Amino acid sequence: MSKQIDVELKNIQKKFGANIVVDRFDIQIEKGECVTFLGPSGCGKTTTLNMIAGFLEPDQGELYIKGKRMNGVPSNKRDLGMVFQTYSLFPHMTVFENVAYGLKLRKVPKAEIADKVNKVLGIVKLPHLADRYPKQLSGGQRQRIAIARALVTEPSLLLLDEPLSNLDAKLREELRDEMKRLQQEIGVTTIFVTHDQEEALYLSSRIVVLNHGKVEQIGTPWDIYNRPASEFVHTFIGKSNRMTGTVESSSNGALLLKTDAGTIRAASRDQQVSAGEAVSIYVRPETIALYTEDRGTADVNRMKGTVKLTSFLGAHTECEVETGSFTVTVRLHDARQNFTLASGQQVYLEWSPEDVFVFPREDEGQ
Ligand SMILES: Nc1ncnc2c1ncn2[C@@H]1O[C@H](COP(=O)(O)OP(=O)(O)OP(=O)(O)O)[C@@H](O)[C@H]1O
Ligand SMILES: [Mg+2]
Repeated sequence: MSKQIDVELKNIQKKFGANIVVDRFDIQIEKGECVTFLGPSGCGKTTTLNMIAGFLEPDQGELYIKGKRMNGVPSNKRDLGMVFQTYSLFPHMTVFENVAYGLKLRKVPKAEIADKVNKVLGIVKLPHLADRYPKQLSGGQRQRIAIARALVTEPSLLLLDEPLSNLDAKLREELRDEMKRLQQEIGVTTIFVTHDQEEALYLSSRIVVLNHGKVEQIGTPWDIYNRPASEFVHTFIGKSNRMTGTVESSSNGALLLKTDAGTIRAASRDQQVSAGEAVSIYVRPETIALYTEDRGTADVNRMKGTVKLTSFLGAHTECEVETGSFTVTVRLHDARQNFTLASGQQVYLEWSPEDVFVFPREDEGQ
């Protein structure tokens, strides 16, 4: 069965003045996917979404929704549902009227409107609030109503621009769970904008990582986390320890890296690094094992250090270890173990060459 492409961006570019804020953006989004645009503030996420929504026209490139060319097509002819960061409910309308609005515009018969509104209020689990006004709702409830309003017309595409960012942490998580459930239940193709990497990992079938208007990588959450295409992608997603060094040798799928703390071995992925080159070396805290004795394990990277700081964080404990040249954060998972590591205590770190990420170093200084 051939896959249906719901959205396609072909070489999309947008400038504001001389500033290129979206640069040669290419992507094909399949029906039912939830694709996240992820990146730091100002990287062009909203601008791209606005071009898909029809609020902005690209300077270059082509945009297709369901196979139809959309350049120049007004927003209201694009069959979209949209939710923004700041909820945009009409204050003078009840929840019911807010949700019904898009159907009324489409001249849907009254009885059918009532059916559809009630159904979608059920989906977001707020049927009992139909008669309230927006100001009588909590922030989370308002966002759920905004989502209901976007869904009620059964759009072919749902566009969400940081819909959770004004909410507190707990509510954010709740609504994130609910959005995932909704997205899977309804199967609506969704583009979700966020600068929260955890939200992106959690919700997406694929993530587009953007940096200064450029696509750094497009991939599944697993790819983005485990096979980052660049140092930017690696450091933007998840925590990582950075060390610096130079490539001593590269052969047989293995790299030897010289650092102030000794030689580090890395399994070579597709890194474009060669002998003598200055590199940034990264190891994620959760891939490092910590022991109080030197186990002398062969074929792993080993480093001696002293404990600086431990922090209990519920599901795991974080431990900062000073190795002389680098401070390394280690994430200890087994919360049942009692990590009573004293400051100043000597410890031994081990991690596999497979867990080492190596990128060419751009700044030649330390
Ligand atoms: N109308 C405009 N005129 C000029 N520059 C603009 C305009 N809109 C956006 N920009 C600039 O384009 C760049 C991208 O903006 P955009 O709103 O797409 O960023 P974003 O990734 O959504 O950021 P945030 O996470 O802060 O919402 C920014 O540098 C911004 O200042
Ligand atoms: Mg934005």
